[in-house]
Amino acid sequence: MANETIGNRIAELRAELEEHNYRYYILSQPVISDQEFDLLLKELERLETENPEFFDPNSPTQRVGSDLNKEFKQVRHQYSMLSLSNSYSEEELRDFDQKIRKLTDQSFEYVCELKYDGTSISLQYKNGMLDRAITRGDGTFGDDVTDNVRTIRSIPLKLKGSGYPSEFEIRGEILLPFSVFARINEERAEEGEPPFANVRNAASGTLKSQKSSVVAQRKLDAYFYNLMGDDLPADTHLGNLHAAKEWGFKISPHIEKCSDMDEVLAFIHKWNLQRFELPVATDGIVIKVNSLKLQQYLGTTAKSPRWAIAYKYKAEQAATILKSVTYQVGRTGAVTPVANLEPVQLAGTTVKRATLHNADIIKNLDLHLGDTVFVEKGGEIIPKIVGVDQASRHPMAQAVEFIKYCPECGSQLIRKEGEAAFYCPNEDGCPPQIKGKMEHFISRRAMNIDGLGSETIDLLYNEGLARNIADLYDLQKEQISRLERLGDKSADRILKSLSESRNVPFERVLFALGIRFVGETVAKILAHRLITIENLESASIEELTAIDEIGGRIAESIRLYFSNPQHIQLIERLKEKGLQMKLDEASIANRSQKLEGLTIIISGSFEKNSRDDLKKMIEQNGGKNVSSISKNTSYLLAGSNIGPSKLEKAVKLAIPIISEDDFLKMIG
Ligand code: IVH
Repeated sequence: MANETIGNRIAELRAELEEHNYRYYILSQPVISDQEFDLLLKELERLETENPEFFDPNSPTQRVGSDLNKEFKQVRHQYSMLSLSNSYSEEELRDFDQKIRKLTDQSFEYVCELKYDGTSISLQYKNGMLDRAITRGDGTFGDDVTDNVRTIRSIPLKLKGSGYPSEFEIRGEILLPFSVFARINEERAEEGEPPFANVRNAASGTLKSQKSSVVAQRKLDAYFYNLMGDDLPADTHLGNLHAAKEWGFKISPHIEKCSDMDEVLAFIHKWNLQRFELPVATDGIVIKVNSLKLQQYLGTTAKSPRWAIAYKYKAEQAATILKSVTYQVGRTGAVTPVANLEPVQLAGTTVKRATLHNADIIKNLDLHLGDTVFVEKGGEIIPKIVGVDQASRHPMAQAVEFIKYCPECGSQLIRKEGEAAFYCPNEDGCPPQIKGKMEHFISRRAMNIDGLGSETIDLLYNEGLARNIADLYDLQKEQISRLERLGDKSADRILKSLSESRNVPFERVLFALGIRFVGETVAKILAHRLITIENLESASIEELTAIDEIGGRIAESIRLYFSNPQHIQLIERLKEKGLQMKLDEASIANRSQKLEGLTIIISGSFEKNSRDDLKKMIEQNGGKNVSSISKNTSYLLAGSNIGPSKLEKAVKLAIPIISEDDFLKMIG
């Protein structure tokens, strides 16, 4: 293809993919299948890789994010990011209204919106393109999180239509849908990270993630509620939001104009319970003066505008009776106490159970059986106990004592230093831990065994057919097919998938073993550095911690795992079954330690290799690829069109600049 034709095709694909993104993420009306979408995206990816001169940070291909570690740059907000004053009662709202009416005798309208409970973001657009995304920070300075924000599919990288100012800012809230929350916390448990307490923390934690590829996987969403700039299209707040919607921004569909406080209060009442049916968290209502002229006249205080106020819903509370406390044992052996309650209505649902998190919480609440307790539903999905009515306690009531022995296997529980949770140490003999390990082993990101799910694992375990992950490979067809709800067909599918799992690469097998703190990324690093399971088995703490990104906690957990003879035996059996216990030949052939200890930054576009390939080569040769330049950077690997600020910084810090050819020579 001639260069011009390629350029045209790239532009065409980008426009088409943006349109499909918009239809899917903003309108929720896709017109093509996911598969068709992926096909177009793959074509664009290929053309962009082969023709790096067409690189564009706002291309739909950039939405997948990068594995580069990122230190955020702090930048000054063009308009400082104020907050809202809060109110909790009708009286406070009437005061707010009266204050405005004292300052103006003209009639005016309010606009009522939902107060989304996520993390705020400010986006700058230049000539219809996303230029920069900044977090709230301290209101004056925020973190530049543009790369991460680009991965959020409901945020337009290129605006639609016309009529937008050449430069403007739009503010909104980045949210993590409830549906993604549970999955993320499961993944965090797998990686040995503490779970996010609520969706708000999960949203801000994700947005500040060091790797944009992680952000891309988390499926954040965003609603926008404030347009700022010099040449705005309308003279009302609502008019501007309507315009922003036309340009492709996601604007809440639940916005209403109100002519007085009674209408505002009706809106507040309407959403009191209805908000729990939304896919994202809300914690109140925001009331804004609609006219921009009046907004300007009313002005702001140092902290918040005088033309807007938030009404915060009180977290819904209900009183009920604590019937009992039971204990659940998870895959890692962590024991979680659960309160069983007299069923009670709370925020539109019947609550029968509440989480107590850990032993400290039970102690701090001074819980007794039969207590009247207060349960609350906040940004968390599972209700929690927030207080106890001490006055109504029966004098003979029995205090809740955290159990000392595992409810599943009877082992004495232990508490590790610095950790809040109690653990059952019997990891190879405690049923929920064994089943949990098998479930992890077969999961999609690990061995990806088709047809096996947690119910089948339960059956296999209970029937005594599989008591560890290696047993799965001994299963016979008739053993599976006679299980409840299974048959010949399912048995064939499971056996085929188990057989095929012999080709799953070593790094995923390592992840599948379920060693504590060895998540996907750590498994990948270990596989590439140590190459074989034998090397990992014999590596000392010093050898392990010498590897970049492997800290003492991970190293100790690995040593502990391999010091258990049962684990060594298990691995021997898996080896006999033919599972990959060694890095594949192609990866081994390509690796060296020629760049050990060197940190290299890549900038610009290259002729022979894509940026991703160069990054891979750096890692395969023992080097580290970084994304921002500092005095510790060893080389700047520069292509064409390198950013002038990066170049300037490299010269200033006297960092050697090398070309693609220099680099290829270095690694031979
Ligand atoms: S307007 C000048 N509208 O609440 C203030 N804020 O406490 C402009 N928020 O920082 C903010 N939903 O993160 C506005 N519909 C909405 C909102 C909203 C959530 C958040 C936002 C802001 C905080 C203020």
